[in-house]
Amino acid sequence: MSSIPAIAILSVMDRYDDYYRSTPEVFGSAPNQILVEHAGLIDPSSTTLEIACGQGRNSFFLARNGMTVHALDQSVEAVRQVKAVAEKEGLAIRTIHSGFADLRPEAAGYGAILVFGLIPDLKRDDVAALVTTVEKVLAPKGLLFITAFGTWDPAFENHQREWTEDSENSFCSLDGVVRTYLEPGELVALFPGLEVIHFWEGLGPEHRHGDGPPERHGLAEAVFRRK
Ligand SMILES: C[S@@+](CC[C@H](N)C(=O)[O-])C[C@H]1O[C@@H](n2cnc3c(N)ncnc32)[C@H](O)[C@@H]1O
Repeated sequence: MSSIPAIAILSVMDRYDDYYRSTPEVFGSAPNQILVEHAGLIDPSSTTLEIACGQGRNSFFLARNGMTVHALDQSVEAVRQVKAVAEKEGLAIRTIHSGFADLRPEAAGYGAILVFGLIPDLKRDDVAALVTTVEKVLAPKGLLFITAFGTWDPAFENHQREWTEDSENSFCSLDGVVRTYLEPGELVALFPGLEVIHFWEGLGPEHRHGDGPPERHGLAEAVFRRK
């Protein structure tokens, strides 16, 4: 049985809704750099799925470059904001308000899947479910763009000391926030059947979220291709 009170679980579900309502461009307006650098590899006739699209910076980048995108997030506010921009600009983005585990596969599969910043928010069981979802919906020759935080993240030791360890390198705060950190090389190991196009681990750039303090993350990033 989880020891997290129901009210805390509710606050986690609402956390991004509140954040997106109060703060424009929480994760910036620029698309992720690995997407910018490798977008040319995506089959332009295919549909891309963005899992956990947030306020849409990556989906907008692809759609503004003529691609078709399905943008999924479990935050109702994220989906509302992405839909509003897509309608205003006439972008080929279909929004899906859902958790990724409830996603229905497209018949042809997705030509690319983007998963930026989601793994750190997932418990280990949900990371395994995410891998299953990707395997289910990625088309042959399709690309996967994905990032995670690693155990070299500057916040890792604080979370290890002050939060409850739920499973290996996965911690939960008293109010139900989850942080999961991967070991070096673990992001590639999650997808043994996929070809590695790009893989990098290190310290990301200093940045801020809204008015928050400056921070840096221990990042793992990868681009994979289905064989
Ligand atoms: C750190 S934000 C990243 C947003 C976006 N990918 C970006 O990089 O700008 C994580 C997002 O994951 C979403 N999320 C968390 N759990 C999810 C789930 N199980 N299914 C779909 N979205 C989820 C949250 O609502 C939030 O928008």
